[in-house]
Amino acid sequence: MATLAEPAIQFTRLPHPAPVAADVRAAVVADPGFGKIFTDHMVVIDWEEGKGWHNATIGPREAISLDPAAAVLHYAQEIFEGLKAYRLADDSMALFRPEANARRFNQSAERLAMPALPEDTFVEAIKQLVAADKDWFPEVEGGSLYLRPFMIATEAFLGVRPAKQYKFIVIASPAGNYFKSGAPAVSIWVSDYTRAAPGGTGAAKCGGNYAASLVPTAEAFARGHDQVLFLDAAEHRWIEELGGMNLFFAFDDGRLITPPLGGTILPGITRDSLITLARDEGLTVSEEPYSLDAWKADAESGKLIETFACGTAAVVTAVGTVADRNGTFTIGSGGPGQLTGKLKDRLVEIQRGSAPDPHGWVVKL
Ligand code: COI
Repeated sequence: MATLAEPAIQFTRLPHPAPVAADVRAAVVADPGFGKIFTDHMVVIDWEEGKGWHNATIGPREAISLDPAAAVLHYAQEIFEGLKAYRLADDSMALFRPEANARRFNQSAERLAMPALPEDTFVEAIKQLVAADKDWFPEVEGGSLYLRPFMIATEAFLGVRPAKQYKFIVIASPAGNYFKSGAPAVSIWVSDYTRAAPGGTGAAKCGGNYAASLVPTAEAFARGHDQVLFLDAAEHRWIEELGGMNLFFAFDDGRLITPPLGGTILPGITRDSLITLARDEGLTVSEEPYSLDAWKADAESGKLIETFACGTAAVVTAVGTVADRNGTFTIGSGGPGQLTGKLKDRLVEIQRGSAPDPHGWVVKL
């Protein structure tokens, strides 16, 4: 786990020989989409057995050179995080619960047999990058600076064991909407594939989980849907999560259900925040198994009034329709419901500093 007692690491600022010109930058951030464009800088910190974390730099974003035998290229020893920097009304920047990402990063590191990064170093790396690249913030509706910290095994070695060398890197990407259409409600395809099995890596944010979701996601797209839903591995009955988002189900009696974290589901920070905000609103929130059959029956009887997906990238997005090999059903009116809108507004207002922050989640920079 995080070794907070280690001395704080010092970051060396490297000169940037050719930063992107302001007018070019302004043109590209005008229509950022998601994950398409990247800022000028990156943070890199090295780890080596016997030496620990060292050589922390913030410098130009550039290609990294890897030995072709680097363990990450063969055995996918890789983990990542996703978080956003927001611009507040007074023009300053803020992060949302970055220490929660730091904690989850180390939980992923533990599962992938990688070294823990002190939580304060993780947060400091993010702060340094946002400070260097704050001019890349996109002035678009819902815009943010998406931060992608990740760790890769760099040791050149083909034996199957934890590597002895790693790089921690943070890059940043101006972001608008995750869904191309800015979709008011997304359509879901229930996959026959399995995302994660008990005892596997489903709760870790590792690249391999996402690689395994690409074929099911492509199948959902080919069938005309926006996202893929995975059911549990054992019974193919219980709802787990979407390709990169957690799910919530809202009922007409004020209950809200989300699938429990049993090791096969990513412990989303947006998921956790929404549980708290929903309770603040007086809803009864339970983390309990919910089946596809119950979802369909409850949607058809009108007991289930809304379903929404959530994640750092997708924020809060309504689910409109659900399809599997047996047919399609619609949630509520098929568009975003009131509760989905209310919880999204509550979250976004806190993140952007336009509402009080009763849980102390916002870290001003
Ligand atoms: C996020 O929501 O930040 C994610 O990591 C999901 C996806 C973009 C991989």
